[in-house]
Amino acid sequence: MLKAENIFAGYGGSNVLKGITIEVPEGSCVALVGANGAGKSTLAKTLCGLLIPEKGRIVFNGRDITGLCASSISRKGLCLCPEGRRVFAPLSVEENLLLGAFPRLPSIGPFRKKASGDLEKIYGMFPILMDRKSQQAGSLSGGEQQMLAIGRVLMAKPRMVILDEPSLGLAPIVLKEVFEAIVGLRRAGTTILLSEQFAKNALAVSDRAYILENGTVVLEGPSSELARDPSVIEAYLG
Ligand SMILES: Nc1ncnc2c1ncn2[C@@H]1O[C@H](COP(=O)(O)OP(=O)(O)OP(=O)(O)O)[C@@H](O)[C@H]1O
Ligand SMILES: [Mg+2]
Repeated sequence: MLKAENIFAGYGGSNVLKGITIEVPEGSCVALVGANGAGKSTLAKTLCGLLIPEKGRIVFNGRDITGLCASSISRKGLCLCPEGRRVFAPLSVEENLLLGAFPRLPSIGPFRKKASGDLEKIYGMFPILMDRKSQQAGSLSGGEQQMLAIGRVLMAKPRMVILDEPSLGLAPIVLKEVFEAIVGLRRAGTTILLSEQFAKNALAVSDRAYILENGTVVLEGPSSELARDPSVIEAYLG
């Protein structure tokens, strides 16, 4: 579904990604594991068109998307849930969710009605969002905001979603709910690239994983094997 080959990218001339090659097969969940500053978010942004690579090639669903802008890439079905629970704070929970569906549903008039079946699915996945649907997104707890950020990207009905550190700062019980949602999403056929600093959950729910250090892939393989690798255990599972 997604193949990125020999990607070099960075900010203002500084190279952060130094020749990264990754592949995410259709229907799979692939984890991207790395410490602070390894380049996970830079790779996520590059794959989604928020950063243009200096070198390399990105193919999504059989099409070369290298250099396309983020809005074209998201319309092709590759969507990013960015790091840091980005929600539109002054808008309500439901307005945030509806905005996720906006690019794929025409006209304002019957918009709410057209999106209602999809809204129900998100509320089924995260019932707390249903309870809070009229509340301002900015006043949600951190965990609720993370659920909303995931819910909003799913409203776009992506073929593939990149989740950048969905577990950051979440309490164990909320973490469990978010990872259950990720497992459900994958079961429903969405292809997932999951970026995480702490590898335990990411390796548990993914098929394959890439370990990133300093902008390069230092290790890759089936997640169950990496979860038993002593160097991975020491660095990311300890
Ligand atoms: N907007 C930016 N401008 C300049 N440098 C940046 C920018 N964003 C990130 N960097 C640098 O790129 C490097 C990789 O950062 P990146 O955010 O990709 O890491 P990460 O693996 O996502 O880390 P974390 O786990 O902390 O989110 C870091 O050295 C960082 O300082
Ligand atoms: Mg990051």
